[in-house]
Amino acid sequence: MNLRLSPLTEAKPQEVEALLDSAFGADRHGRTAYRLREGTASLGELSFAAWDGSRLVGSLQSWPVALRTAVHVERLVMVGPVAVLPEAQGQGVGTALMDALIAAAETERADALMMIGDPDYYGRWGFTAEQTGRWRIEAGPYEQHRLLARLRRTVGAQGQLISVRHPELVSR
Ligand SMILES: CC(C)(COP(=O)(O)OP(=O)(O)OC[C@H]1O[C@@H](n2cnc3c(N)ncnc32)[C@H](O)[C@@H]1OP(=O)(O)O)[C@@H](O)C(=O)NCCC(=O)NCCS
Repeated sequence: MNLRLSPLTEAKPQEVEALLDSAFGADRHGRTAYRLREGTASLGELSFAAWDGSRLVGSLQSWPVALRTAVHVERLVMVGPVAVLPEAQGQGVGTALMDALIAAAETERADALMMIGDPDYYGRWGFTAEQTGRWRIEAGPYEQHRLLARLRRTVGAQGQLISVRHPELVSR
């Protein structure tokens, strides 16, 4: 594979949609992570496309979300979906996308990242469920052990993850 990464904006939205459908299935829109980011725009500096020549083989998107604790609302970055075309999996595309994300997060000072994902895979980039045990998501079902965070600043230990479009935030 002749792998090259670019900002996700280089890919056409319909190409990205087709890739996500092939990696996750067309029923992916019901997923809790999708509901948390619904109606928001992805973060351009933290979203990437992976190409094999002119073919889109992977994508990683990041989104603004919020954690509502008893005392305040904190902004976090939600990473995902990370998607690799089924026939291109196991060849380092996901690793390259995640390495790019972590490098960009450091440059951008995005110091509180979260995601819903497999701890066995994402643990290698420092994502763990250790600090998320008392975080909850009302937007839909999820498995608590797959709620992961990579925190480089202090973030509330207990709270609800909500969309940045949540009426409570929009009215502030
Ligand atoms: C999960 C995914 C992003 C990984 O991307 P990839 O390009 O296939 O992965 P890479 O080739 O970079 O990495 C392969 C390594 O990760 C491991 N790996 C892949 N998926 C894994 C998982 N779910 N749990 C643990 N390890 C996993 C492989 O065993 C391999 O290990 P090695 O480096 O020790 O050999 C990709 O397979 C995918 O899109 N899957 C379908 C959608 C999905 O589940 N996305 C993640 C949810 S956000």
